[in-house]
Order: sequence, then structure tokens, then C-alpha cells
Amino acid sequence: MRAAIIGTGYIGRVHARLIRELGGQVVAACGRTLASAEAFGAGTAYDNVDAMLRSAKPDVVHICSPNHFHKEHAIKAFDAGAHVMCEKPMATNVDDCLHMIEAADRAKRVGAVAYCYRGYPLVRELRRRVQSGDFGVLWRVSGLYLSQDVFDPEKYVWHFTPGTVGDAFALMDYGVHWFDLAEFVTDDRIHDVTANFRTRRPRRLWTGEAGQGPRPPGRILEAGQVAVDVSLEDQADLLINFKSGASGTATIMALSPGNPNHLSLSVDGDKGGFDWLQEQPNSFIERRLGEKCIRERNPDRLHADDRFSAMVPPGHPEGYLDAFRNVIAESWRAMRGEKILYPTFEDGARGVAIVECAVQSAKSHLPAVTQGL
Ligand SMILES: NC(=O)c1ccc[n+]([C@@H]2O[C@H](COP(=O)([O-])OP(=O)(O)OC[C@H]3O[C@@H](n4cnc5c(N)ncnc54)[C@H](O)[C@@H]3O)[C@@H](O)[C@H]2O)c1
Repeated sequence: MRAAIIGTGYIGRVHARLIRELGGQVVAACGRTLASAEAFGAGTAYDNVDAMLRSAKPDVVHICSPNHFHKEHAIKAFDAGAHVMCEKPMATNVDDCLHMIEAADRAKRVGAVAYCYRGYPLVRELRRRVQSGDFGVLWRVSGLYLSQDVFDPEKYVWHFTPGTVGDAFALMDYGVHWFDLAEFVTDDRIHDVTANFRTRRPRRLWTGEAGQGPRPPGRILEAGQVAVDVSLEDQADLLINFKSGASGTATIMALSPGNPNHLSLSVDGDKGGFDWLQEQPNSFIERRLGEKCIRERNPDRLHADDRFSAMVPPGHPEGYLDAFRNVIAESWRAMRGEKILYPTFEDGARGVAIVECAVQSAKSHLPAVTQGL
């Protein structure tokens, strides 16, 4: 694949590495400034998406820009005839997601979303085992996504600039991953959500350092710093009902000290249960009445269609980058015309739709039903 990357920050660098690992070529990279694209060190540098698409003519565009650009960048990529691998959340609202889906259909191109946690071999094994009835009828589906990324009150990221993330912060940044993981593993759909939101850090200070994005609106202080009021939640506590009748809770928290990426899924059914933690992705706890054991990743146990997701033999740990590579690999296979399960734009739109539901519930203090998608 001849790939172009839009957005040359943290996740853009991850994509560049995995594109090369998969035998692709990064032909172009576009940043907010030419200097950032040049410093990226992969592909021809641009600071203009149109110019990049015109001259680089990529097969696939990897969108790694801030959330509020995903729609514009995806539609331009499709109009230029490229497939799109888009970072999560797919867009800042469901309407934008729907426009992106229309653009993909019009161009007859594939749009995939980087729900990277699907790529772990044990996530796939658990999905198959739930599907085969190993855990019986599911009663409880719960979990956490706890991060400490913005715990420091001095830390400013572009997400705090109004209009960049959408109508939620923790849910758009972390929650969409948990929603997709829970729906993917259980092969079920979240039906309704009752949400409680808290904003623990309501004030942030933009200082103009790298990664903070352009100057936000707000009260300008000395030395050009800007005081920004943050009204979006940094903690979301959710009560969730699934279509099948399973129910549970999820807490999504951006200020959890000591927890960089504590993403967990815990399920109980009428035959057994399991607990999986992203920080130890090569094992899970399997539970039966009166019995609890640790199961290690074993490629031989994987379904034939999932074998590609385990690169090394048991006992050699695989990690985040391997899972991420697997999700890009299957998305590229779909782009090449293979009939294969991959995180589609519809899956991306679902994540954003569930966030919108939670926002509605947090305002009304009533359950909100996920619509459509
Ligand atoms: N899948 C994951 O696990 C994961 C992890 C981190 C980030 N993300 C997502 O990736 C996206 C980027 O996040 P990040 O952490 O890399 O942010 P970042 O701030 O590190 O990088 C953003 C990049 O976008 C570029 N940019 C800004 N405006 C642009 C424009 N108009 N045109 C082209 N480039 C522009 C900036 O130059 C910067 O290089 C977000 O949507 C985020 O939610 C996903």
C-alpha cells in the first residue's frame, strides 16, 4: 500500500511504523505546519491536504489529525480515490460520521476505524468463546478505561480547546474504545445508557507548547498564555443495558493517578465468566463456579481466521503495537477486496452515537437509548 498520513503527532508516528512493518510505504505526511511534517521523517512533507492528495495519489490515507478534522480529511481522501484508515473517535458527532459513510459509498472505497484493542489475540479468542456459548447467557458486562494522561492540572492538550473533541472528553478519547471492545467481544449491542458526568479539573492553561494546538479562545494572561474553561467531563460513570439483556457498568476516567491505560472487560454469564486487562493482554482470568484460572495466550488455540493476529509462539509477549498492526492489516485486507471482519465506519459511528446518548443522559438524568446504527 502507498499510504499517506495526515497528522504527524503521537499516533501518526505509530501508524508510520506499522505501515512499514506491514510492507507498505509512507509516501507523504501532512501536518499542521510544514516543519512538523518535515520533522516526522517519513514521506514527502506537506502542510496542505489537497496538495498532498493531488501529488502523492495514495492508495490509503491514515487520518491521525485531531478529531474535528476527521470528517474533512476523510471526505477529501475518498474524493481523491483513496481508502481511509481513520483514528478514533471517527468524528465529533454522528452527523459527520454519516457524511463520511456517504462519501465512502460514493467513492466505492473502504473506511476503517483504528479500534486497536480488537487486534489482541485473546480479545478475538474471547469473542469466539462468547459466540460459541462457552460462558452461557451473558448477565453482566462491565469494565473500566482509566487513564492519567491529563491528571496534571498544568497539562494542556488540544482536546481542551472547544470544538475539537466533540460533546464529551473522556468518552470521546477513551470511552469509544471501551464501547467497541465490549460490543466486539460480546457480539452484542449497547441498547441504553444512564450516565453521570463529572468535571474534576474545570480550568486549564494553554501555554503554546508543542501538542497544545493553535491558541484557543479564552482569557489571555501575561506572556500570551490563555485560561480555558473546561466544561466537558473527565469522569463518566455509566449504567449500561445491552440488547441481549446483559447489563453492567463502565467508568471512563481521564484523571486516574497511576493508571496510564487501565482498560478492562469483565463478564459473567450463566456458565462462567472472564476478566481481561489490556495492561496484561497475553492472559485472561477464566472463572467457573468455585474455580478461577489464568489462561495464557496460545496461538494454537486461536480460530484459523484469527491465527494471523498472533505473530510469536506462547510465552513471548505480544503487545499494543502488535494489536494495532493486526487491525491495520485486516482493514487493508478489506481495502483489497477481501471479505473480512474489520472495524468499519459503521462501528466508528456507533461509538460516537453511544457517546451522544451518554451526553443526553447526563443532561436529562434519564436513560438514553442508542438510535439507528
Ligand atoms: N487508537 C488509539 O489508541 C489512539 C491513541 C492516541 C490518539 N488517537 C487519536 O488520534 C488522533 C490524533 O491524536 P494524537 O494523540 O496523535 O494528537 P497529537 O496532538 O499528538 O497530533 C496531532 C497532529 O495533527 C496535526 N494537525 C493538526 N491540525 C491539522 C490539520 N489541519 N491538517 C493536518 N494535520 C493537522 C498536528 O500537526 C499534529 O501533528 C485523535 O483523533 C486521537 O483521538 C488514537
